[in-house]
Amino acid sequence: MCGIVGYVGDGNARDIIIDGLKRLEYRGYDSAGIALHEAAGLVVRKQKGKIKNLEDSIAGETFTSSVGIGHTRWATHGAPSETNSHPHLSESGKIAVVHNGIIENYVKLKEKLQKEHGVKFKSETDTEVIAQLIGLYYKGDLMDAVYKATAEMEGAYAIGVIAADEPDKIVAVRRDAPLIVGLGTHCNFIASDIPALLKYVRQIYLIENNETVLITKEAAKIFDSDRKEVKRDVFHVTWDADAAEKEGYDHFMLKEIHEQPKGVGETLNRRLDDDGSIKLDGITISKEELEKINKIYIVACGTAYHAGLVGKYAIEKFAKIPVEVDIASEFRYRDPFVDENTMFIAVSQSGETLDTLEALREAKRKGARILSVVNVVGSTVARESDDVFYTWAGPEIAVASTKAYTTQIMCFYLIALYMATKRGTITADYYNQIMGELKALPEKIQRILDNEKQIEELAKKQYKLSSIFYIGRGADVGVAYEGSLKLKEISYINSFAIAAGELKHGTIALIEDGTVVFALATQDRLYDKMLSNIQEVRARGAYVLGLAKENNKEIEKQASDVIFIPECADEVTPILTVIPLQIFAYYVAKFRGCDIDKPKNLAKSVTVE
Ligand code: F6R
Repeated sequence: MCGIVGYVGDGNARDIIIDGLKRLEYRGYDSAGIALHEAAGLVVRKQKGKIKNLEDSIAGETFTSSVGIGHTRWATHGAPSETNSHPHLSESGKIAVVHNGIIENYVKLKEKLQKEHGVKFKSETDTEVIAQLIGLYYKGDLMDAVYKATAEMEGAYAIGVIAADEPDKIVAVRRDAPLIVGLGTHCNFIASDIPALLKYVRQIYLIENNETVLITKEAAKIFDSDRKEVKRDVFHVTWDADAAEKEGYDHFMLKEIHEQPKGVGETLNRRLDDDGSIKLDGITISKEELEKINKIYIVACGTAYHAGLVGKYAIEKFAKIPVEVDIASEFRYRDPFVDENTMFIAVSQSGETLDTLEALREAKRKGARILSVVNVVGSTVARESDDVFYTWAGPEIAVASTKAYTTQIMCFYLIALYMATKRGTITADYYNQIMGELKALPEKIQRILDNEKQIEELAKKQYKLSSIFYIGRGADVGVAYEGSLKLKEISYINSFAIAAGELKHGTIALIEDGTVVFALATQDRLYDKMLSNIQEVRARGAYVLGLAKENNKEIEKQASDVIFIPECADEVTPILTVIPLQIFAYYVAKFRGCDIDKPKNLAKSVTVE
């Protein structure tokens, strides 16, 4: 999704902004651009494709500016092209704008600017409308012009604006799209996300909705919609800057796969008291309120939705509350039954996914208690929730989510156990058994990672496949969906996941000689049934890649190849089962020469519908 970076200080604005944009590459983009205050006025340079193209195109130019704004664009209005890339200028060339989000009434505004003011447009974008509108209102006071323009703009957006006649400042606005301010010494920044600024600053202002920001070299001020200055606490970022780098791995995805023992361990250990009980700092719901909850919705998109499927399994099993898991883009439009006895759990790595956010707002309007499971601290989903449960995955850069998924599942185990103890639906023995299993997970994930070579070899053997099926039963079904999504998004292979028992109701028609089937058989009580399903597809000529716990050796007789995971209770297998699937997807994509960290057509943070 689009990324914004702005800088005011003494340094070389071009270098600092381009560096910041590179750190936002993980959000996904198709073009990049920059606007700088030079002696001759505003200079705009933009290029389709990677930031490298932009860098190469301006390599021979000298820029002295220490103020500017930059942007990575993910096309929404108008195709990816140099013309449609940001920054956009007003007709006078004196206002430059970068923008993340969508201006819903841009057609109306554009017509007004064209008909009533004779403004001529160069691009097809909604962003140019912003630049022209601000240009129309600009009478020497950028803040004033921005306030007047944004009063007419509808939609969800964040913008950064500079004016040729006020070369010492950047004005930025947040309305339902992420925006932060970085506080430096004799310099200040704006950005869409923290990693863009980690190299330069650790002191951050998290900007709220409908706030306008004015930054100069020496000051960063925030104003509300009535133009009154508001005070904001400084948020200190403790992440190590290196955490956002690859640390020697070929791809962020592989690095993040390997960070799972740590992420899963931290997500658990930070919530455990010395006596083994769960302390949930971000959760204020009382025992009485919890007792009133008679239904839970878990709502999310993509991988986060798949984590929700495991969450349902855990909450229903331990806390005995009925759970419905829904895709956010469906939930928000289907008038679901929600009341004050409903708990709504939003799951989101970025905390900025628009569909999840709108589903959350819909549930809130209907009176539900909102709990969110989020990775990005201070993100919009987190801020709009009653209770927040943070995953401790650290920044996830690769577009394909891995460590966010396993840490989200760990959150669900903790939430489920916490609810179960409060509601008295779990015995002390069972609680202690499951807690012991959870504590052992980081070391067991590490053992699977130590077996990476075997999975790499299997991927090497199969990477030319043209389609694949993932099957499983019980807790393995949700993981099959996730394994399938992981493979398709980074390797572009047609992949399909289905509950193994459903195969015979239609899909088995597609199984033929050489079809690849990944069969997940980790559930002890369903193991024999899975072996039958494996026989079913083998009989039709399938190559079966089996996955089972290490003591269940029978599968070796049925499957073509087998990956074993360490022994553990059925309840907690998903965190382990998914690891070989992530590694398999990674190596298949690698052998196929795919752009693993930035797959085509995908964005890390989907802040549009
Ligand atoms: C897949 C993936 C996406 C996200 C989805 C939700 O690997 O990353 O399916 O899970 O777009 O994103 P968040 O969790 O940021 O709300």
